[in-house]
Amino acid sequence: MKVNSSRLREELAELATFSSHPPPAVTRLVFSDEDLRARNWLAEKCLAAGLSTRFDAVGNFFARWEGSHPGLSPLATGSHTDAIPNAGMFDGVVGVLGGLEAIRVLRESGFQPRHPVELIMFTSEEPTRFGIGCLGSRLMSGSLAPDRADALVDLEGRPLAEWRSSAGYQGDLAGVRISPGAYAAFVELHIEQGPLLERGGFDIGVVEKIAAPAALRVEFTGEGGHAGAVLMPDRHDAGLAAAEAALALEKLVRESGSPDGVGTTGLVKLFPNAINSIPCRAVLEMDIRDTHLSSRDVVTTGILEAVTAIADRRGVAVKTEWINVDPPAECDLRLVGIIGQAAEGWKSLRMVSRAYHDSLFMARLAPTAMIFIPCRNGWSHRPDEFSSPEQIACGVEVLARTLAAADASFE
Ligand code: HGY
Ligand code: MN
Ligand code: MN
Repeated sequence: MKVNSSRLREELAELATFSSHPPPAVTRLVFSDEDLRARNWLAEKCLAAGLSTRFDAVGNFFARWEGSHPGLSPLATGSHTDAIPNAGMFDGVVGVLGGLEAIRVLRESGFQPRHPVELIMFTSEEPTRFGIGCLGSRLMSGSLAPDRADALVDLEGRPLAEWRSSAGYQGDLAGVRISPGAYAAFVELHIEQGPLLERGGFDIGVVEKIAAPAALRVEFTGEGGHAGAVLMPDRHDAGLAAAEAALALEKLVRESGSPDGVGTTGLVKLFPNAINSIPCRAVLEMDIRDTHLSSRDVVTTGILEAVTAIADRRGVAVKTEWINVDPPAECDLRLVGIIGQAAEGWKSLRMVSRAYHDSLFMARLAPTAMIFIPCRNGWSHRPDEFSSPEQIACGVEVLARTLAAADASFE
């Protein structure tokens, strides 16, 4: 089995050109023109590789290689190609183009799988457009109700229903749902997005658990007013309430004592957002994660209490909305073992994923596990995100071997 590294490098570089930011940054929001061009480009690549292709009603993409026993549920691999603003060219993409390359390598080696093998490109893994991540895999796994999904709106208030229809994806979102057992197993190849593999000189990460993400939207409403004329004792400043809330989140996470607990207030919008006007409204989005549900829940409970106390003290109103509160996912032990064997000859590390991935939801449908490759300094979600052709080729080869071994092992 020989990974065609130059083919893969060219495809990674070509896919990176579908971006609304100039290189080396990649910005590719779901259903943007560049995303639609990337989707069509990928479909053509898969057709050229001899796979049959389809999109579902929310734009999840499936490329299929028929097996010798068509009655068996497919084995699947895949990831996402949407990218947050000013991101890199490897997050998600390594799992989609690397998955396609693994399938081509197996086909070119004459391997004939018993199971059908599918490559999946999931719609909107990133939360950028609609505020919630893993939209496509949530709908596939029944983790998000179709009517709630279609009602999701972007920051300008445009609903998903409109976005997907203008992108050419019609039909009832209920049809996106995949029943448990419909896949024999799912394996996702992804860059680590952290520094452990590189720091320890490891070639491969074998993911055993995926952290539990929660996202909270907080809205403070104060009185606003003239930045010069309203004296300090008379102010009800929504912006300062927001600042206190962000610091309260940090304090709660640090005090949770969990090594895997993290909390970020990544989105802050102030209104009217003018230097000489006291913010009358502040919208925050908080990202809270942990691999341990108990310590994560200490933070999710504590932050609601904290924002209420801040609002009371500052005489502002507060509204909160959980965007998502998900449990962690345990990877399938048999699949983890298969990956470990497939990585023989390389240095591999068993680890947790602190980033979430579509695997978090595929694990509700099928035995699921992930393969990580190192990325430089652990950097991700930034233009200088980088994994070398050799690191990517190693991940693809381990993925190809894993698919072949899973084909023999799973019914
Ligand atoms: O935020 C995440 O963990 C993923 O990169 N969307
Ligand atoms: Mn990402
Ligand atoms: Mn990703």
